[in-house]
Amino acid sequence: MRPDLPLLQAESLSREFDLPGGGIFARKRRLEAVSEVSFSIGRQEVLGLVGESGSGKTTIGRMVMRLLPPTRGRILFDGVDLTALSGRALRAQRRRFQMVFQDPYASLNPRMRVREIVEEPLVVHGIEPDSSSRRDRVARLLERVGLSSRDMERLPREFSGGGRQRIGIARAIACGPELLVADEPIASLDLSMGAQIINLFSSLVDTDAMSLLFISHDIPMVRYLSDRVAVLYRGRIVESGPTRDVLDDPRHPYTRLLAEGTLPEAGEAAPSNAGSEPGPTGLCAFLPRCDRALPECRLAPPPRLSEGEVREVLCHLPRGESSWSPVTLLSQGSPSDVPATPSR
Ligand SMILES: Nc1ncnc2c1ncn2[C@@H]1O[C@H](COP(=O)(O)OP(=O)(O)OP(=O)(O)O)[C@@H](O)[C@H]1O
Ligand SMILES: [Mg+2]
Repeated sequence: MRPDLPLLQAESLSREFDLPGGGIFARKRRLEAVSEVSFSIGRQEVLGLVGESGSGKTTIGRMVMRLLPPTRGRILFDGVDLTALSGRALRAQRRRFQMVFQDPYASLNPRMRVREIVEEPLVVHGIEPDSSSRRDRVARLLERVGLSSRDMERLPREFSGGGRQRIGIARAIACGPELLVADEPIASLDLSMGAQIINLFSSLVDTDAMSLLFISHDIPMVRYLSDRVAVLYRGRIVESGPTRDVLDDPRHPYTRLLAEGTLPEAGEAAPSNAGSEPGPTGLCAFLPRCDRALPECRLAPPPRLSEGEVREVLCHLPRGESSWSPVTLLSQGSPSDVPATPSR
């Protein structure tokens, strides 16, 4: 363990996908779903990742989980470059980071009993080989997530959406991970169930010392749970910093819309290919929708500016303000390594 380092550091992550179409002789069209994304997550810290549908949130979550290789960039977990690991070395690290999925209906095997679902990762990683102590551990895990040891022999379909999400969380925390990646974990739940799951995450961070990458459209929940927030627009982080600073005093016009809640619901506004095809101009992707654009926005790519090495924005707007300065090469890509005061 390297307590001197952030638990997770994503460095200049990019991910391209081939687009369908184009004949044999045509040049392949590629979509850059994630472009040069850098962030870090400290120990016991929650980073909220927000942005409209198609902005690249899931792609980033899957790259962090090593479910999808980045086209470029590195992911350091506790100082170890995950992108360079494979086989046994990767398996050894895997139990340290786990994912909680959006849809607790689709992510649990309907034929498996709760005990089998929760103990499977323990078996895979060879933790608690003795079946009776494994059973005890499953019972403790179920109680930890607000279920009961009496639920062990039940099937997922016997639970509500919130109950199923608790089973998914019990499975995710079975091997004692240090980082959870939760991709829209409350999107399919009603308000009160969602709030209970958010409280469970909060207690896993505070009591069990976990870190969390919290991917969500739900700005009030992000505000409640996250220490810092990163705002994604078309595959790029356009603003990041301590949650309250960013959401109460947004500097990027896109963050402003997001914080005011004036953006259309997920999926409604995003163009079908919401990432960006790598283009020669590099101009701001938000320009066509921006109501505060300056003449220079049409002439040059937006600069990455920082304030106090804690906040960052990819925009021309704050350039004239003395507190904002261009991100220097030294801190480029890792300004968020500066620990922030928890806002929870
Ligand atoms: N396997 C893939 N092949 C081709 N394109 C993909 C693939 N996965 C994602 N994309 C594209 O990459 C972009 C980002 O997708 P992603 O799922 O990461 O967005 P998201 O922010 O998670 O959206 P949502 O809020 O709807 O979940 C989208 O344009 C999507 O169509
Ligand atoms: Mg997604």
